[in-house]
Amino acid sequence: MGDYIRIIPIATEQSSSELDYLALKADRGPVDTLLDHLHRPLHDLRISVTDRCNLRCIYCMPREVFDKDHAYLPRTELLTFEEIERLARIFIRWGVKKIRLTGGEPLLRHGVEQLIEKLARLQTPTGKPVEVALTTNGALLARKAQSLKDAGLSRVTVSLDGLSDATFQRMSGSQLAVATILKGIAAAQAAGLGPIKVNMVIKRGVNEHEIVPMAEHFRHSGVVLRFIEFMDVGTSNGWRMDDVVSAREILERISGQYPIEPLDPNYSGEVAQRWRYADGAGEMGVIAAVTQAFCHECSRARLSTDGKLYTCLFAGAGMDLRTPLRQQDSGLVLSHLIAHAWSHRTDQYSQQRHMVTSAAIHSKKIEMSYIGG
Ligand code: GTP
Ligand code: 5AD
Ligand code: SF4
Ligand code: SF4
Repeated sequence: MGDYIRIIPIATEQSSSELDYLALKADRGPVDTLLDHLHRPLHDLRISVTDRCNLRCIYCMPREVFDKDHAYLPRTELLTFEEIERLARIFIRWGVKKIRLTGGEPLLRHGVEQLIEKLARLQTPTGKPVEVALTTNGALLARKAQSLKDAGLSRVTVSLDGLSDATFQRMSGSQLAVATILKGIAAAQAAGLGPIKVNMVIKRGVNEHEIVPMAEHFRHSGVVLRFIEFMDVGTSNGWRMDDVVSAREILERISGQYPIEPLDPNYSGEVAQRWRYADGAGEMGVIAAVTQAFCHECSRARLSTDGKLYTCLFAGAGMDLRTPLRQQDSGLVLSHLIAHAWSHRTDQYSQQRHMVTSAAIHSKKIEMSYIGG
């Protein structure tokens, strides 16, 4: 066992040389907890592996904005798998225990299984395996589920915003059939990528009528359906508070049909509130990111497709890690940069949303498809 380091920057700001020293130790041995300004540890790393997607969800990549003229990142700007692995190792030394691959649509990244293989081999400083999960739209899942499992993926979460083709196609801006996504979910279950979660973003007047049918469909299936409040991520989705169906309203609709009981969180900082059907039909959840913000325990860092570190989903700018990575600088510099970014972190956008002016809500924020949700 190596040394344990506890960093509480709120009490005393670290000087550069102190951080250098801590980064050096982290490079060599296990770190206990890296805390930000609000005492929040770093637990999850969400890695976006592509800014491209084969769908055009109206709340994420609306077709009017992400049309054929949209400029995606050129290939040279994407982190390579080796670069991602190198950064992941450093994040893990700073406390990351779970890695989630996102996009855009992560299954569009050529050879993503090779990246999963690399990441699934990584261990925490105390020798535990790091959990590697993936959030996908499910369109390519039926043909990929087994190879993802073979590569070492732990589990998948699938986005699906409706049960009828008409609603799903409106929400996803595509001509895809719901049956394609359901086949993907079934293949993931068969491959052992469970417990499978399904994310359903609710937009007022568009798919709210499918809340209860979706609940009904996934009862008794072993799949955990989570209803997500429509968020003001990015600047393209024309978000308005009037379009948000609150978690409270969603729960009222479900419990009007099926009695439900609250469950404890699986881990501290879990974004979903967990519920179970009282009749034993399984679990469901709500993600109340707008009406009941969970910033006070937010433990997620995000790495964009081109290697920038974002400490909030709603950030306007990230810290460039790709340049030092490509300059062949030592791990120490990167380790220092990551520790510095996290220990100076004060983000709590959702908790302060009510104080934010309309101009700020519509100010330039990073797009979900680039930072990965
Ligand atoms: P598990 O708990 O491991 O199942 O994953 P998760 O629920 O954190 O991941 P998922 O990709 O399924 O995200 C669920 C929803 O919560 C998505 O709409 C995310 O954009 C949203 N979300 C995840 N993390 C945050 C966060 O830190 N802040 C906000 N505001 N939303 C988040
Ligand atoms: N509000 C809420 N959830 C969103 N997602 C994407 N954009 C938004 C938004 N504006 C969800 C996707 C996916 C997850 C990563 O984030 O549906 O399930
Ligand atoms: Fe693609 Fe997911 Fe965004 Fe929909 S939410 S456009 S599936 S990245
Ligand atoms: Fe974390 Fe930012 Fe989401 Fe708050 S708004 S939970 S700080 S990512």
